[in-house]
Amino acid sequence: MTAEPATRVLKADKAAISAAAACLAAGGLVAFPTETVYGLGADAGNGEVVARLYAAKGRPRFNPLIAHVGSLEAARRLGRFDAAAETLATTFWPGPLTLVLPKRPDAGIADLALAGLDSVAVRVPAHPVARALLAEFKGPVVAPSANRSGHVSPTEAAHVLADLRGRIDIIIDAGPCPVGLESTIVACLADPTLLRPGGLPREAIERALGRKLADATTDDETPLAPGMLTSHYAPKAKLRLDAAAAEPGEALLGFGPVPDATLNLSPRGDLIEAAANLFSHLRALDASGAKRIAVMKVPHEGLGEAINDRLARAAAPKTGTS
Ligand code: TXA
Ligand code: MG
Repeated sequence: MTAEPATRVLKADKAAISAAAACLAAGGLVAFPTETVYGLGADAGNGEVVARLYAAKGRPRFNPLIAHVGSLEAARRLGRFDAAAETLATTFWPGPLTLVLPKRPDAGIADLALAGLDSVAVRVPAHPVARALLAEFKGPVVAPSANRSGHVSPTEAAHVLADLRGRIDIIIDAGPCPVGLESTIVACLADPTLLRPGGLPREAIERALGRKLADATTDDETPLAPGMLTSHYAPKAKLRLDAAAAEPGEALLGFGPVPDATLNLSPRGDLIEAAANLFSHLRALDASGAKRIAVMKVPHEGLGEAINDRLARAAAPKTGTS
């Protein structure tokens, strides 16, 4: 048995990025900030460290991972771009969009990271620290969100430490993630299809494509994005959605100008601010010991689609398979 690694938390500067790149090259696990959420990175070509990554997260199944690269050119070496993928990549990268593409045979990504699929999920993140790390490491870095399986995604280094201390080598701390929701996932295998709403609103994607996105029907038996099990984003507390007010014994997660919210996603009713606060507020309410959380209604437009998706998953009965 190998000893547990002592997890080092490093302030995001040049030295930290060099240490993290060297750690990845040596087969280590590095949590790093992206504009969406913190990712848990590993060398995509190293099957052994990918196996350690799944173990560190406590993932009962091998969900395929997103390969993070520094540029569109690097992404082209991993997957094939059709016209729609080309448009989306040139319009939105770097940024909170993941494209699922037909995998190139020589992509150089460990089979385990792709869970045996012949497609590959690719993203060019916008966060300067992620970009600096990818530039220094050079190869693709596979990175799921840096949380234990079944927990909400981490938007601060402290969330990563709480979930993964002693299980990973380095956490680069660059403060809170600006977007706060995971990337939007679009499959460009046939008709462009929305697999997961996320940090880039559907409307922006449809405007760029000049057409509607198809919707993937995912359920717990045959999830198209296999990590999209209904209970994937589960805090410990029980959630009641679309609440007008708190009932006795409930904490209130507000949206808009309400005086008595325990925490408020956005007092001014701004969806961008609400997205950035969603996971940290759910974690904070869990940490406060709240057993039941009433969540006020969030409008279903722009980032509201992804916020409501994560809230619905957080409210779903836990299946223990996420
Ligand atoms: O914002 C994000 O996307 C963050 C940051 C770290 O980049 N990453 C993230 O990764 O959310 P993860 O592993 O928590 O979620 C990735 C999702 C999973 O639901 C997985 O099943 C899906 O992407 N996925 C990966 N490869 C796929 C593929 N080839 N086909 C369909 N879905 C895929
Ligand atoms: Mg995740």
